[in-house]
Amino acid sequence: MDKPSTTISDLKKKRRMNALISPTLHEIKFNEFVLFILEKKMGTTRRAFLMELARRKGFRVESELSDSVTHIVAENNSCSDVLEWLAGQNVGDSSRFELLDISWLTECMKVGKPVEAIGKHQLVTPSDCITETPPLATKEVSQYACKRRTTLNNCNQKFTDAFEILAKNFEFRENEGICLAFMRAISVLKCLPFTIVRMRDIEGVPWLGEQVKSIIEEIIEDGESSRVKAVLNDERYKSFLLFTSIFGVGLKTSEKWYRQGFRTLDEVKADKSLKLTKMQKAGFLYHEDLVSCVAKEEADAVYLIVKEAVRAFLPEALVTLTGGFRRGKKIGHDVDFLISDPESGEDEQLLPNVIKLWEKQELLLYYDLVESTFEKTKLPSRKVDAMDHFQKCFLILKLHHQKVDSNRSKPPPESKTHEAKNWKAIRVDLVMCPIQQYAYALLGWTGSRQFERDLRRYATHEKKMMLDNHALYDKTKKIFLKAESEEDIFTHLGLDYIEPWERNA
Ligand code: CTP
Ligand code: MN
Ligand code: MN
Repeated sequence: MDKPSTTISDLKKKRRMNALISPTLHEIKFNEFVLFILEKKMGTTRRAFLMELARRKGFRVESELSDSVTHIVAENNSCSDVLEWLAGQNVGDSSRFELLDISWLTECMKVGKPVEAIGKHQLVTPSDCITETPPLATKEVSQYACKRRTTLNNCNQKFTDAFEILAKNFEFRENEGICLAFMRAISVLKCLPFTIVRMRDIEGVPWLGEQVKSIIEEIIEDGESSRVKAVLNDERYKSFLLFTSIFGVGLKTSEKWYRQGFRTLDEVKADKSLKLTKMQKAGFLYHEDLVSCVAKEEADAVYLIVKEAVRAFLPEALVTLTGGFRRGKKIGHDVDFLISDPESGEDEQLLPNVIKLWEKQELLLYYDLVESTFEKTKLPSRKVDAMDHFQKCFLILKLHHQKVDSNRSKPPPESKTHEAKNWKAIRVDLVMCPIQQYAYALLGWTGSRQFERDLRRYATHEKKMMLDNHALYDKTKKIFLKAESEEDIFTHLGLDYIEPWERNA
């Protein structure tokens, strides 16, 4: 069929579009951004609507990809889609643009000002992601996370987000096998230095079974997975997600509440006959703060509070930030610390003293002190997910806003429920360890969970050794291997050293 010639109505439509696209007189409030909204896969109408909306809110939005553009916003496009498009635009070095997903703009529109672009908004900076044919033979990807370098630069977030949802659903259904299969797939996808655009890209990559592959294929073709969509609408999944967001509520409690017919947190709260543990009571009380995630600036402020309190009793003690923040994450669900005293060796009084001090300072909202159960002669645990035996304390601290760096990017949220609430509740984990076990404890508490699991699996299956957060035991030589640093432990295991920020498996 011939292409129809332009009709009057087409011309009218075009004129309407142009009227929308051409910059109208809106005051520019945010000069630090110059936005360009990509039409590809978005369509002219929606693009025009978004441009007008953003301009009305005070953003500078260019119609053309001019030299002044700093941020490109795209919808339904992967990093490689945008790069491919950019390559055809003759704009020189495209790495100067920040590539953002539409979700960033939507959030900005909601609050009426720029929000910080975090991982989920970023389509990954061009210099970090390779989009041509994968350069590395994917056969070289190890089945062990501890032999892979996994930074926070995830080129395949579109896929890993989908698998996170599926893994969680199977966790909620207590189907550990399938849950683990998805977790392994997520972990291996996170280490790939390129975005998957065709099935050929993942040939030879371990842990990608038939089920996983069919979902990847569906996402490549349709941009989304029907299975993920079904899970997101699943009643049990939705309720479990809500219930487990409460500190102190795990699968067992969620199951019980679900069976009793509860579906939302308000329904649970309304039932005054329910017996809640002390932990769950605190979980409900500080829920809003606890689900709002800890920012790096807040973790740094907590670090100062912890260090000051610890040093008041043990001036020489080491206080080390561990967990996700040590791996370079910008947000976390809690702040983890490892404490050790080279002088006193083991000091069982430190954590109780710190607790007493914070109670006096009215900083303590909740705590649970767990005494050490460590026996020196015991071999490392055989279980991949075993808890360690250190004395530790799980707590909720009151962090005053003024303690958080004054040059932080976001102003503290204004609370509607509490009058002049000038603090935020933060989950903190403190672990006390003897200095001889410091390296093992540090390695164990830095994570990620998947990295730790694979370290233990590697030690057992490849080295006939047993590793846990306390020690490494060589079963052939029947000796415990001493380590002063994490590097020593990697050497004992015959592994290349992997930096903390490369352990985001
Ligand atoms: N860990 C452990 N034993 C526990 C709890 C945690 O060995 N009883 C280790 C895990 O290996 C984990 C790390 O400590 O990777 C930190 O745990 P957690 O705070 O749960 O996870 P993060 O990686 O810090 O992630 P998040 O930002 O969600 O806190
Ligand atoms: Mn943590
Ligand atoms: Mn923790």
